[in-house]
Amino acid sequence: MQKVLVAGIGITKFGEHWEKSLRELAVEASLQAINDAGIDKNKIDALWIGNMSSGRFIGQEHLGALIAGELGLNVPSTRIEAACASGGLAIRHAYLSILSGKIDCALVIGVEKMTDLPTEEATITLATASDQEWEAYYGVTFPGLYAMIAKRHMHDFGTTREQLALVAVKNHEHASLNPIAQFRNKITVEDVLSSSPVAEPLNLLDCSPITDGAAAILLCRENFVKVEKPVYLVASGHAVDTIALHERKSLTELKATKLAAKMAYEEAKIKPKEIDIAEVHDCFTIAEIIAYEDLGFCEKGEGGKLIEQGETRLNGSIPVNTSGGLKACGHPVGATGVKQAVEVVLQLREEAGKRQVKHAQRALTHNVGGSGATCVVHIWEKGF
Ligand code: COA
Repeated sequence: MQKVLVAGIGITKFGEHWEKSLRELAVEASLQAINDAGIDKNKIDALWIGNMSSGRFIGQEHLGALIAGELGLNVPSTRIEAACASGGLAIRHAYLSILSGKIDCALVIGVEKMTDLPTEEATITLATASDQEWEAYYGVTFPGLYAMIAKRHMHDFGTTREQLALVAVKNHEHASLNPIAQFRNKITVEDVLSSSPVAEPLNLLDCSPITDGAAAILLCRENFVKVEKPVYLVASGHAVDTIALHERKSLTELKATKLAAKMAYEEAKIKPKEIDIAEVHDCFTIAEIIAYEDLGFCEKGEGGKLIEQGETRLNGSIPVNTSGGLKACGHPVGATGVKQAVEVVLQLREEAGKRQVKHAQRALTHNVGGSGATCVVHIWEKGF
């Protein structure tokens, strides 16, 4: 079977962009990706746009046509929505379409503009990705849902408050080396423990922030263009679980992650230990610890120890979230899955500057929607 090649990548700075509109952010990232690939934009056969809630965040729907029009392209253009996994799922749709042989080249854009709303309204908008009838109606929001998951993990496996904090400390440290990150300040465990409570046991510094940003990736059939440092998308997994937490058998694992990871590992014909680096969905610190376990980087219940031992730091055995993750690089919800891809491509191309991991051959990206109702896992390989 043909492989899917990454021909180009682009990304805007993540943070508050009061001076730029959603369309400007999307175009900025797209043009970077097209220029990076060095191809004529008219070679693009289709566009996929990952976006969670532009209608509520900025009052603009119909992004497929909007962004294609801004780029001067009259090709099929589709918006994909799967809450915070919208970007990852947009990549999957482009990947499958290229593998089907129907198209040669697709531009995938992830974009979200969140900071135009005050936090209370952004929180309500984000909560539309939970179960309206059983969760949001009763006032529970995403920090609250992940706080319940954290409590149960601490109860069942002895995961400590300090181990949760270490995830934020690591990701701020990585973000300090990433020029596009929203928060480039280093923090300590004490800073996390003394930051304002949001939903016990999670404090402000356990949470990903509210962010504006866009990322883009140009995917092509293997021999469609020649690139100097080829990176390939070699496997894609996608699964769903119940949207509401109370309907799940376990609060301490995300079944969708396990299923999507299994699908991706089988397609790539590899085991978790063959992954060199990963970008995982750390929307809250507990989410990264559970991702280690569900992706097979450690045994169930051992995620807290993995972060404590420093294995997921830049110089550890499996560096995780070299970008700074959602926590510190920022989390423009619909853009996150594409940003994760951009980060691992930079790493595999050896273009990640001060946060470069040496000798990485294979990377994994893990993008979650809601409290684990959707998960998309991709595996990427260096081709030079
Ligand atoms: N991490 C680090 N610093 C943060 C931060 C975060 N997550 N969120 C805000 N800050 C900083 C701000 O930069 C600001 O710093 P300053 O005073 O030096 O300027 C300060 O904290 C207060 O910012 P503000 O925007 O007033 O915070 P807030 O209380 O309105 O919002 C949260 C904080 C945690 C409630 C908000 O970021 C949030 O809801 N995060 C979760 C988003 C989410 O659920 N995403 C979907 C996941 S599934």
